[in-house]
Amino acid sequence: MRIVVGVTGATGAVLAVRTLRALTNLGVETHLICSRWAETTLKLETDLSLADLYSLASVVHRVDNLAASIASGSYRTDGMVVVPCSMKTLAAIRMGLSDNLIVRAADVTLKERRQLVLVVREAPLHELHLENMHALARAGAVIFPPVLGFYHRPRTLDDVIDHVVGRILDQFGLSMPVPRWGEPAPQGGASNESTPL
Ligand SMILES: Cc1cc2nc3c(=O)[nH]c(=O)nc-3n(C[C@H](O)[C@H](O)[C@H](O)COP(=O)(O)O)c2cc1C
Repeated sequence: MRIVVGVTGATGAVLAVRTLRALTNLGVETHLICSRWAETTLKLETDLSLADLYSLASVVHRVDNLAASIASGSYRTDGMVVVPCSMKTLAAIRMGLSDNLIVRAADVTLKERRQLVLVVREAPLHELHLENMHALARAGAVIFPPVLGFYHRPRTLDDVIDHVVGRILDQFGLSMPVPRWGEPAPQGGASNESTPL
Protein backbone atom coordinates (compact mmCIF):
# COMPACT_ATOMS: atom_id res chain seq x y z
CA MET A 1 0.00 0.00 0.00
CA ARG A 2 1.19 3.53 -0.77
CA ILE A 3 -0.10 6.63 1.05
CA VAL A 4 0.88 10.30 0.66
CA VAL A 5 1.24 12.18 3.96
CA GLY A 6 1.08 15.98 3.84
CA VAL A 7 2.04 17.84 7.01
CA THR A 8 1.09 21.51 7.36
CA GLY A 9 1.62 24.23 9.95
CA ALA A 10 -1.48 23.73 12.08
CA THR A 11 -0.78 22.83 15.67
CA GLY A 12 -0.55 19.08 16.28
CA ALA A 13 2.77 18.00 14.77
CA VAL A 14 2.56 14.99 17.09
CA LEU A 15 -0.37 13.73 15.02
CA ALA A 16 1.85 13.65 11.93
CA VAL A 17 4.60 11.83 13.81
CA ARG A 18 2.24 9.19 15.21
CA THR A 19 0.44 8.72 11.89
CA LEU A 20 3.71 8.17 10.05
CA ARG A 21 4.92 5.75 12.73
CA ALA A 22 1.68 3.78 12.59
CA LEU A 23 1.73 3.58 8.78
CA THR A 24 5.36 2.40 8.85
CA ASN A 25 4.50 -0.21 11.51
CA LEU A 26 1.82 -1.51 9.15
CA GLY A 27 4.29 -1.77 6.25
CA VAL A 28 2.73 1.06 4.23
CA GLU A 29 4.95 2.96 1.76
CA THR A 30 4.67 6.61 2.79
CA HIS A 31 5.39 9.70 0.69
CA LEU A 32 5.96 12.65 3.01
CA ILE A 33 5.63 16.36 2.17
CA CYS A 34 6.13 19.02 4.87
CA SER A 35 5.21 22.66 4.46
CA ARG A 36 7.53 25.41 5.65
CA TRP A 37 5.23 26.05 8.63
CA ALA A 38 5.06 22.37 9.49
CA GLU A 39 8.81 22.54 10.06
CA THR A 40 8.24 25.38 12.53
CA THR A 41 5.44 23.65 14.46
CA LEU A 42 7.48 20.44 14.65
CA LYS A 43 10.33 22.39 16.26
CA LEU A 44 8.04 24.35 18.59
CA GLU A 45 5.88 21.42 19.70
CA THR A 46 8.24 18.43 19.86
CA ASP A 47 11.86 17.54 20.54
CA LEU A 48 12.16 16.02 17.09
CA SER A 49 14.17 17.46 14.21
CA LEU A 50 12.98 17.55 10.63
CA ALA A 51 15.46 14.75 9.92
CA ASP A 52 13.76 12.63 12.59
CA LEU A 53 10.41 13.16 10.89
CA TYR A 54 11.88 12.40 7.47
CA SER A 55 13.39 9.17 8.81
CA LEU A 56 9.85 7.88 9.46
CA ALA A 57 8.86 8.11 5.77
CA SER A 58 9.70 5.84 2.85
CA VAL A 59 10.08 8.79 0.45
CA VAL A 60 10.38 12.51 1.21
CA HIS A 61 9.36 15.16 -1.33
CA ARG A 62 10.14 18.87 -1.24
CA VAL A 63 7.01 20.98 -0.95
CA ASP A 64 8.09 23.12 -3.91
CA ASN A 65 8.77 20.16 -6.21
CA LEU A 66 5.77 20.16 -8.49
CA ALA A 67 7.58 17.67 -10.76
CA ALA A 68 7.50 14.96 -8.06
CA SER A 69 5.95 11.58 -8.88
CA ILE A 70 2.95 12.24 -6.63
CA ALA A 71 2.13 15.44 -8.56
CA SER A 72 0.77 13.24 -11.35
CA GLY A 73 -2.38 11.16 -11.33
CA SER A 74 -0.56 8.52 -13.37
CA TYR A 75 1.53 7.70 -10.27
CA ARG A 76 -0.62 5.26 -8.35
CA THR A 77 -1.32 5.74 -4.66
CA ASP A 78 -3.96 4.49 -2.26
CA GLY A 79 -4.77 7.99 -1.10
CA MET A 80 -3.52 10.89 0.95
CA VAL A 81 -3.84 12.24 4.45
CA VAL A 82 -3.06 15.84 5.38
CA VAL A 83 -2.26 15.74 9.08
CA PRO A 84 -2.57 18.24 10.60
CA CYS A 85 -4.31 20.35 7.93
CA SER A 86 -4.22 24.14 8.34
CA MET A 87 -7.08 26.37 7.29
CA LYS A 88 -4.76 27.86 4.67
CA THR A 89 -4.09 24.51 3.03
CA LEU A 90 -7.76 23.57 3.38
CA ALA A 91 -8.69 26.76 1.47
CA ALA A 92 -6.04 26.16 -1.17
CA ILE A 93 -7.23 22.58 -1.77
CA ARG A 94 -10.82 23.79 -1.94
CA MET A 95 -9.88 26.33 -4.63
CA GLY A 96 -7.61 23.96 -6.60
CA LEU A 97 -4.73 26.36 -5.99
CA SER A 98 -2.01 23.80 -6.70
CA ASP A 99 1.04 25.98 -6.18
CA ASN A 100 2.77 23.61 -3.77
CA LEU A 101 3.11 19.83 -3.70
CA ILE A 102 0.78 19.25 -0.74
CA VAL A 103 -2.07 21.06 -2.48
CA ARG A 104 -1.26 19.57 -5.88
CA ALA A 105 -1.09 16.00 -4.49
CA ALA A 106 -4.43 16.57 -2.73
CA ASP A 107 -5.91 17.89 -5.97
CA VAL A 108 -4.64 14.80 -7.80
CA THR A 109 -6.06 12.55 -5.10
CA LEU A 110 -9.49 14.13 -5.52
CA LYS A 111 -9.48 14.08 -9.31
CA GLU A 112 -8.43 10.42 -9.36
CA ARG A 113 -11.26 9.65 -6.89
CA ARG A 114 -8.85 8.32 -4.28
CA GLN A 115 -9.27 8.64 -0.53
CA LEU A 116 -8.35 12.13 0.75
CA VAL A 117 -8.45 12.59 4.53
CA LEU A 118 -8.06 16.13 5.87
CA VAL A 119 -7.24 16.27 9.59
CA VAL A 120 -8.36 19.88 9.90
CA ARG A 121 -7.22 21.75 13.02
CA GLU A 122 -8.64 25.09 14.05
CA ALA A 123 -11.01 26.34 16.74
CA PRO A 124 -13.32 28.08 16.76
CA LEU A 125 -14.36 27.86 13.10
CA HIS A 126 -15.80 30.75 11.12
CA GLU A 127 -18.16 30.49 8.17
CA LEU A 128 -15.43 30.38 5.50
CA HIS A 129 -13.65 27.49 7.25
CA LEU A 130 -16.94 25.63 7.38
CA GLU A 131 -17.78 26.46 3.75
CA ASN A 132 -14.40 25.12 2.63
CA MET A 133 -14.92 21.91 4.58
CA HIS A 134 -18.43 21.54 3.22
CA ALA A 135 -17.30 22.01 -0.39
CA LEU A 136 -14.48 19.50 0.02
CA ALA A 137 -16.74 16.97 1.70
CA ARG A 138 -19.07 17.28 -1.28
CA ALA A 139 -16.09 16.75 -3.60
CA GLY A 140 -15.33 13.47 -1.84
CA ALA A 141 -12.78 14.37 0.85
CA VAL A 142 -13.10 13.04 4.39
CA ILE A 143 -13.10 15.95 6.85
CA PHE A 144 -11.53 14.53 9.99
CA PRO A 145 -11.05 17.02 12.82
CA PRO A 146 -8.90 15.39 15.52
CA VAL A 147 -11.54 15.68 18.21
CA LEU A 148 -11.14 13.97 21.55
CA GLY A 149 -13.08 10.83 22.40
CA PHE A 150 -13.76 9.76 25.96
CA TYR A 151 -15.91 6.66 25.60
CA HIS A 152 -12.80 4.47 25.69
CA ARG A 153 -11.77 5.97 29.05
CA PRO A 154 -8.34 7.36 28.03
CA ARG A 155 -5.85 7.61 30.89
CA THR A 156 -3.04 9.46 29.13
CA LEU A 157 -2.50 11.86 26.25
CA ASP A 158 -0.95 8.91 24.42
CA ASP A 159 -4.29 7.10 24.65
CA VAL A 160 -6.12 10.09 23.16
CA ILE A 161 -3.60 10.57 20.33
CA ASP A 162 -3.52 6.86 19.48
CA HIS A 163 -7.29 6.78 19.32
CA VAL A 164 -7.34 9.67 16.84
CA VAL A 165 -4.57 8.09 14.75
CA GLY A 166 -6.31 4.73 14.79
CA ARG A 167 -9.51 6.32 13.49
CA ILE A 168 -7.53 8.15 10.74
CA LEU A 169 -6.06 4.81 9.63
CA ASP A 170 -9.55 3.29 9.63
CA GLN A 171 -10.36 5.66 6.75
CA PHE A 172 -7.87 3.73 4.62
CA GLY A 173 -9.07 0.31 5.74
CA LEU A 174 -5.94 -0.04 7.90
CA SER A 175 -6.24 -1.35 11.40
CA MET A 176 -4.20 -0.54 14.47
CA PRO A 177 -5.07 -1.89 17.91
CA VAL A 178 -7.12 0.91 19.42
CA PRO A 179 -10.08 0.57 21.77
CA ARG A 180 -13.33 0.13 19.85
CA TRP A 181 -16.85 0.41 21.14
CA GLY A 182 -18.44 -3.01 21.48
CA GLU A 183 -15.12 -4.88 21.09
CA PRO A 184 -12.74 -6.28 23.74
CA ALA A 185 -9.82 -3.97 24.65
CA PRO A 186 -6.78 -4.59 22.42
CA GLN A 187 -4.05 -6.72 23.98
CA GLY A 188 -0.91 -4.76 24.87
CA GLY A 189 -2.48 -1.41 23.99
CA ALA A 190 -2.04 0.58 20.80
CA SER A 191 1.12 0.17 18.73
CA ASN A 192 2.27 3.73 19.41
CA GLU A 193 1.70 3.56 23.15
CA SER A 194 4.48 4.99 25.28
CA THR A 195 6.51 5.97 22.24
CA PRO A 196 8.49 9.03 23.32
CA LEU A 197 8.07 12.21 21.37
C1 LIG B 1 2.50 27.35 16.61
C2 LIG B 1 1.54 27.58 15.48
C3 LIG B 1 0.32 26.96 15.53
C4 LIG B 1 -0.60 27.14 14.49
N1 LIG B 1 -1.80 26.48 14.56
C5 LIG B 1 -2.67 26.58 13.53
C6 LIG B 1 -3.87 25.81 13.55
O1 LIG B 1 -4.15 25.04 14.47
N2 LIG B 1 -4.68 25.90 12.47
C7 LIG B 1 -4.39 26.71 11.39
O2 LIG B 1 -5.17 26.72 10.45
N3 LIG B 1 -3.25 27.45 11.37
C8 LIG B 1 -2.39 27.40 12.40
N4 LIG B 1 -1.21 28.13 12.37
C9 LIG B 1 -0.98 29.05 11.25
C10 LIG B 1 -0.39 28.35 10.03
O3 LIG B 1 0.91 27.86 10.31
C11 LIG B 1 -0.33 29.35 8.87
O4 LIG B 1 -1.63 29.69 8.43
C12 LIG B 1 0.46 28.86 7.70
O5 LIG B 1 0.40 29.81 6.65
C13 LIG B 1 -0.05 27.53 7.18
O6 LIG B 1 0.66 27.20 6.01
P1 LIG B 1 0.72 25.71 5.48
O7 LIG B 1 -0.69 25.24 5.37
O8 LIG B 1 1.38 25.84 4.14
O9 LIG B 1 1.54 24.94 6.44
C14 LIG B 1 -0.28 27.97 13.39
C15 LIG B 1 0.97 28.60 13.36
C16 LIG B 1 1.88 28.40 14.38
C17 LIG B 1 3.22 29.08 14.32
